[in-house]
Amino acid sequence: MLQKTLSRWLVCLVAVAFLTGCPKPATERGQKPAAHTTGPATAEAAPSATQPAAPSTTEQAAQPSEAQPAEQPSQAAPSEEAAKPEAQQPAPAPTQQEAMPAPETTPPAAESQPAQPAAQQESAEKPKGEASSQPAEKPADPQPAGAQRAAPQGTPYEVKVPLGLPPLPIPEDNPMTVEKIELGKMLYFDKRVSADGSVSCATCHDPNMAWAEHTPTSKGIHGQVGTRNAPTVINAAYATSQFWDGRAKTLEEQALGPVANPIEMGHTIEGMVQSLDGIPQYKELFQKVFGTGVTPENFAKAIAAFERTVLSGNSPYDRYRAGDENALTEAQKRGLKVFEESGCADCHTPPLFSSYEFYNAGVGMNKEKPDEGRKAVTGKDEDFGKFRVPSLREVANTAPYFHDGSAATLEEAVAVMAAGGIDNPHRSEEFDTVREAKITPEQQKDLVEFLKALSGEYPKIEPPQLP
Ligand code: HEC
Ligand code: HEC
Repeated sequence: MLQKTLSRWLVCLVAVAFLTGCPKPATERGQKPAAHTTGPATAEAAPSATQPAAPSTTEQAAQPSEAQPAEQPSQAAPSEEAAKPEAQQPAPAPTQQEAMPAPETTPPAAESQPAQPAAQQESAEKPKGEASSQPAEKPADPQPAGAQRAAPQGTPYEVKVPLGLPPLPIPEDNPMTVEKIELGKMLYFDKRVSADGSVSCATCHDPNMAWAEHTPTSKGIHGQVGTRNAPTVINAAYATSQFWDGRAKTLEEQALGPVANPIEMGHTIEGMVQSLDGIPQYKELFQKVFGTGVTPENFAKAIAAFERTVLSGNSPYDRYRAGDENALTEAQKRGLKVFEESGCADCHTPPLFSSYEFYNAGVGMNKEKPDEGRKAVTGKDEDFGKFRVPSLREVANTAPYFHDGSAATLEEAVAVMAAGGIDNPHRSEEFDTVREAKITPEQQKDLVEFLKALSGEYPKIEPPQLP
């Protein structure tokens, strides 16, 4: 292992000769330390330069057990997981990615969470070897001391993916650090992000309501009511698009949406930036985390990094899958069978219980002016009334249901689905399988019971102290 580390360093040193500045990454990419690892945290994470000035943190709340390794340089105590190849790589200059030997070895299949970076959803789906195609993401900077950083580093954050979830996709250009997540958390709870200081992200995606909201459609500033139900932020990090109609690609892209939405937060992006920039502590935090003042891009990055800590797994279903026969009740086991055999799983595909595709289930299509859904994004008629398949994790805790919040209870929502959707000229034929399965009322009950087994563990956190 040590040998490997050394040889990597050699490569790096050689690369230096060509590229000047091994330990001196370019600004933006400079902050790409360990963050990408998804494996069970190990001690190997080596924050570089700066000590985590641990901002007023209830950090543990977000990720219960994982204390951040403070200043352990490099290969401190490789525990069993540390045996994973990527996890071991020293992190020379990110600029030299390509010069880095890709991990030749396949990650040693630590069944539930492989250590590969999984920056892409695709690779996230494949816990096995493909990792090697990804340019290594390496946790440790082997030479923290000497390294002159062009941009602030921060303390790499070890993502702990709960049992049953695939590796977390983390964008290359937004690595997770303790400080960034803490900043994102503040912004998430800060009502000053809205025009009149009345609404924060947490107003509509409330940690106490499973990070959603128990009203059919959300009330934004000045009590204005929107037309769509606020989806939970839980596991949104895995979605291949954001919003019911998928109009944003990433969490980063999504985060600015509500700010400027006239009936959500009603601000302008410039206005929001200005007001945050006028708060000295925010100015300081942005400087520390990003090396910039408050910018829309970095506002979005911080919030997105925080949202990536909001995961739910380790549910009875996951424990059942992991071999605990008793994790599900008999009714739940029957429900699981119906779920798999009558086509629910085609769209609500495990382990995330969504394929993130778009379908017309006929919900709200009899309204005078139906929500055109996906069509607004693609412009295609065939996408009329299509909405992204919602994940069903924590679904028992996120009533009401559907894009318009029109189903008050899980029973109601399941009934609509079990019927193969509601007839309308645009109903997706993919619902036919379910319709043909002729799910009985008894089976519907079992389905509901099964869905309750998708409630697991997710962070329940208190609002942080705001600047
Ligand atoms: C006034 C209520 C409201 C506020 C405030 C609000 N949201 Fe939302 N959020 C919604 C609604 C409603 C949707 C669905 C809108 C749609 O699909 O068109 C949504 C969608 C989302 C999604 C997409 C989830 C998914 O599964 O597609 C994310 C992520 C999200 N919001 C995060 C945030 C963040 C971060 C903030 C603060 C910057 C925020 N929201 C502020 C109501 C709100
Ligand atoms: C063809 C794809 C497809 C199939 C098959 C399917 N669903 Fe859905 N499901 C969707 C879509 C799309 C929505 C959102 C519809 C909307 O809001 O307009 C949804 C919504 C739901 C919801 C509400 C979730 C929420 O957070 O609002 C539940 C519960 C649900 N489905 C359960 C099931 C069950 C149980 C089955 C099998 C009987 C099933 N679905 C089959 C696509 C599908």
